[in-house]
Amino acid sequence: MTQTLHLKAPENWINDPNGFLYYKGNYHLFYQYYPYGPRWGTMHWGHAVSKDLVTWDHKGIALHPSVPEDEDGCFSGSAVEHDGKMVLFYTGVKCDRPEHAPKEGFREPFTSTQLKIESEDGFTFDNEGGKAVILPALDDPAVGDRMHTRDPKVWRGTDAWYMILGTQTADEGGKLLIYRSEDLDTWELKSQTSMHRALGWMWECPNYFEVGDQKVLLLSPMQMIKDGKVYDSHAISMVVGFDESTCRLDLPEEYELLDYGMDLYAPQTTLDEEGRNILVGWMRMPEAVDGRWNGMFCMPRVVEVENGHVYYRLHPNLKKAFSREIRSPKEASSQGYSIHLDLEEGEAMYVGGYRIARKGGRIETDRSAVLHGHPELRSQFFSPTLKDGCRLDIYVEPNLIEVYINDGEYVISNIVYDLTGELAVPLGKDVLLKTTE
Ligand code: FRU
Repeated sequence: MTQTLHLKAPENWINDPNGFLYYKGNYHLFYQYYPYGPRWGTMHWGHAVSKDLVTWDHKGIALHPSVPEDEDGCFSGSAVEHDGKMVLFYTGVKCDRPEHAPKEGFREPFTSTQLKIESEDGFTFDNEGGKAVILPALDDPAVGDRMHTRDPKVWRGTDAWYMILGTQTADEGGKLLIYRSEDLDTWELKSQTSMHRALGWMWECPNYFEVGDQKVLLLSPMQMIKDGKVYDSHAISMVVGFDESTCRLDLPEEYELLDYGMDLYAPQTTLDEEGRNILVGWMRMPEAVDGRWNGMFCMPRVVEVENGHVYYRLHPNLKKAFSREIRSPKEASSQGYSIHLDLEEGEAMYVGGYRIARKGGRIETDRSAVLHGHPELRSQFFSPTLKDGCRLDIYVEPNLIEVYINDGEYVISNIVYDLTGELAVPLGKDVLLKTTE
């Protein structure tokens, strides 16, 4: 099965991107996958590959529960290349009370172990004989939680391998553990980092990477915004300090939402063919499409840092895919279309019923007309105050609108279900519309 522009659940359910890696001429993108229905359940790793980040070919299931440590799921993780092999790292989970899984559904308490599996070619995975425990479940609450420790992200530093894990402090705050290894098998705990002020009760999917001499950390803190609305867990990004010799990580006071549409979660980065840092994130969906599939990823974005601010720009390969100019959305291909224009202060536009306005120096969006039946979800979204001007590049497909503001200064991406084919922009506006071939 092939998909274009966005990787989506081939059927059933997907959540986080996992093991994103350019390896032997292909982009490999794995994902949290439940193969038996459009809902979260015992986690597998699904697998898709692409030559260009635009067209994805689904390859089926790469990892499935097969050893005692991952009996109840293969949770999120990452990939690196070493000695020509693809090496995957992930969290295996096992429910502590056997009656809780899988018949009764996955339930706490559970035990989390960090595992590794290698592949010679990136396509075959020996689930029966190839899995190895690299970090047993934590047994010291002063280090982290036995249950809530997960999502290993591994990267190559100047002279060793490093791994960052999300965990929980003894008093239920978010925490990070950084390990170091010479050989990817033996890992030594080097540093522990938490924040003084509350930022959720556990930090999922930590992702550290370097952009030139800037260091960036992404986190997905659980329940960081408690205003009674869905969602309460969000992906954030920040410029940090990191010293390889000590693994000391310095977190700043300030952080930003990675995407102001507040649907994007659990993002992961890797390097593309040209060495750019690229990112995909899970776009959370409140219901299955046609009752069949739930979950998709945003289009791949390039991460850049300018003057201490992290930019998320649409990857050039994706920009290029929108190559054909059209006069109306009605001429668009089934993949969707893009809209390019400048919006002045006080102006508003409607994309298939989705409202985008520039007001008070910010961009605000409203999806209430295109997402019916979900009062629990937020419907209005706001960018921070824009620095200068307001160029919008808007990418529209049936279930997702991605609004890039000033080439990635901010992005607002929203899941929608009820778009119409109408486009309304202020009178006399200079607008460029494009679609894929
Ligand atoms: C984030 C997350 C991860 C976990 C995975 C389980 O969405 O909860 O922390 O590994 O999903 O599917």
